[in-house]
Amino acid sequence: MAKNSVSFSCSNCQHSSIKWLGCCPSCNEWNSFIEEKAHFSPVLGGKKTGTSRTATGELLPLKTLHEIEFSEQKRMLSGIAEWDNVLGGGIMPGSLLILTGDPGIGKSTLLLHVAHKLANNYSVFYFSSEESLEQVKNRAMRIDSIHDSLLFSDKANIEGIIHTSQERKPDIIIIDSIQNCFFSETQTFPGTVGQLRETSFALMRLAKEHGIAVIITCHITKEGHMAGPKTLEHMVDGVFYLQGEDRWHTRILRSVKNRFGALHELGFFSMTEKGMEEVPHINQFLLSESTAAAGAVLVSCLEGSRPLLLEIQALVVQSKFGVPQRVVTGLDHKRVVLIAAILEKYLFIKFSSQDIFVKVSGGIKLTESSSDLGIALALLSSYFQQALPEKSMALAEISLTGALKPINGIETQLKEAQKFGIKKIFVAAGQKTTSTSIKAFSSVYQLLSLFDDSPDQTIEQK
Ligand code: TYD
Ligand code: MG
Repeated sequence: MAKNSVSFSCSNCQHSSIKWLGCCPSCNEWNSFIEEKAHFSPVLGGKKTGTSRTATGELLPLKTLHEIEFSEQKRMLSGIAEWDNVLGGGIMPGSLLILTGDPGIGKSTLLLHVAHKLANNYSVFYFSSEESLEQVKNRAMRIDSIHDSLLFSDKANIEGIIHTSQERKPDIIIIDSIQNCFFSETQTFPGTVGQLRETSFALMRLAKEHGIAVIITCHITKEGHMAGPKTLEHMVDGVFYLQGEDRWHTRILRSVKNRFGALHELGFFSMTEKGMEEVPHINQFLLSESTAAAGAVLVSCLEGSRPLLLEIQALVVQSKFGVPQRVVTGLDHKRVVLIAAILEKYLFIKFSSQDIFVKVSGGIKLTESSSDLGIALALLSSYFQQALPEKSMALAEISLTGALKPINGIETQLKEAQKFGIKKIFVAAGQKTTSTSIKAFSSVYQLLSLFDDSPDQTIEQK
């Protein structure tokens, strides 16, 4: 027989307890405990005949893969290539996707552009739970995105959203944002963990059972992660972050989870007076900012399937304090410290008495070890105050012994570099490549040959 019991859970962090508590021991939130009725149903078990039996006695139909009907689903393309590519070739019907990012980064603006374009071929409902209809109209007029097949509502009641969608069967619904939506029956504030879990689950059912693609926007925490319970990320088909760097007005759309496409795929946009514009030739844009001055080195990294040409800039100056400073943006701080230590050990350059500042152009975080050589050359170039040959690029890993190591999949990066007129590529000895414009080094000792004022190569014999 089914047994019902009462428990209490924190509406902020879902910590559960068998009795009501004034202050949550897990997240320290006051008055956050609400009563939950748990319903336990013992499973009766089933015979091994292709069916299973639950407590209600209902027989669930089970199918072999041959019996399951399958038709290739056509993805919904917006025509905004930077958006479509990141999603893996358009929106998959019946998928549940999340767009997250800092407040004011441009989530609503981007979605309005996308919705406007999609409305040419699909019916799209835009539920703006965060902003009034006047505010949405104001934005739509500003970015010139007015379309008769694009319908708006500013209601945040999730039952209403689901009922309307079931009745009117749009192809896509956009909910901006999920934190403001609520179930009228639940007695907690919108945006709490419990509400987020329930609303997302209901939207997932809507997406899967009715084949409606659902895109929701979601707030971000102080630490830069998507707000809400971890289950939210597991539940959805795709999580996309919109990030940006203020100075540039550049916005980067990045896929961190995508059941229907590649991970870490990037799309580039620029926030202008009239909304978000695509930046399809990002490398041209990135290179136009490069300086070819002392301390600057070009490197390349693969983001998703996209090769990016980036500039590492280093500034090495005599330290004025006892403890030298290491200020690093866009790179792992520890990697810069490690490479400086390798150079100090094998080239006898006293980086430990120098302040080191390193940054990467374009607000992109370089994580690949193929940029090791670029970091080393940027440090040396700033130290000797001598620029590297114009239109040169560095692509190699450096080991703790000071030896340079070849990298994998260099051809895509070399092809992109060639397109932009890069004349010389510094690589590790033994790097397999079809390119002829390379210069190979086997160890960090040999890097000194690139700088006139460096101590001569007698170091190598030491
Ligand atoms: P918005 O899309 O509302 O951000 P989010 O939904 O992520 O909170 O974007 C708000 C910012 O974008 C705001 O600072 C104004 C700026 N903006 C422009 O620069 N140009 C435009 O055309 C629009 C619509 C907004
Ligand atoms: Mg918004």
